Amino acid sequence: MTIGGGGGIQRLPGSYATGVPAEVLVVGSPPLAAARADPLLTAAERARCAAFRREVDAARHATGRLLARSTAARWFGVAPERVGVVPDLDATSRGCPRLTVDGRRADAYLSIAHAGEVVLVAVSARPCGIDVEVVADVEPVVGSDVIYAPPELAALAAAQDPVLLAARWWTAKESVLKALEVGLGVDPPLIDVRRELVTVAVAPPYTSTRTTWRLHAVDVPAGHIATLAVPA
Ligand SMILES: CC(C)(COP(=O)(O)OP(=O)(O)OC[C@H]1O[C@@H](n2cnc3c(N)ncnc32)[C@H](O)[C@@H]1OP(=O)(O)O)[C@@H](O)C(=O)NCCC(=O)NCCS
Repeated sequence: MTIGGGGGIQRLPGSYATGVPAEVLVVGSPPLAAARADPLLTAAERARCAAFRREVDAARHATGRLLARSTAARWFGVAPERVGVVPDLDATSRGCPRLTVDGRRADAYLSIAHAGEVVLVAVSARPCGIDVEVVADVEPVVGSDVIYAPPELAALAAAQDPVLLAARWWTAKESVLKALEVGLGVDPPLIDVRRELVTVAVAPPYTSTRTTWRLHAVDVPAGHIATLAVPA
């Protein structure tokens, strides 16, 4: 998947198999200012847009929700008007977006990410998580033990381009967190993303599970980096 024109598939240091598995629908767009005025946005989405201080944050949120509706509409073969995106209000997966068709919970998983000039959505029959970051924005946390485990920090210290690798790993951790639907309910250092297969144990109060995820690099415009996590 390439957005923003040009690009092509690039292999990056510390990257995983590039591309998106066929069973996942991934679509991207730049944030569109006009999305805020789209009649498909719900009252809640308009209110959220109005609450952002920066116009670009409102554009990212609105574009993400519209892209989610149009992508899910393609997935289900229905008109976008019939698709809803409803954040989960459950205490543990709070904020995780769910899909509805005609107001009823739909049988597919959705993940949304936005950063810089990129908005991404993933729709799949199985749980999935997607994340995108602006590479330069990750520079302040390259040596952070709040994000990275000791073996990751050692690898970052020895890397040729530590910021790029740290950004790749940040999106990997976030994509797994989103697929798990726990937000920051699992400490990022507990998610070891040095390889493309990642096993994570989630403890109560979240649904206690041990799962393995496969990481895929997603092709995005220069200066950004994105990862998709799917069940291994
Ligand atoms: C909310 C979180 C899921 C991602 O937030 P983020 O990186 O600030 O923003 P992103 O653009 O990547 O993702 C936002 C989208 O995630 C989705 N989301 C929110 N909560 C979610 C959850 N519990 N599970 C899955 N997806 C979630 C929403 O769809 C949201 O977009 P929308 O509200 O516009 O529809 C969460 O992981 C978080 O708070 N991260 C903070 C950043 C951090 O410290 N990360 C540690 C580095 S590993």
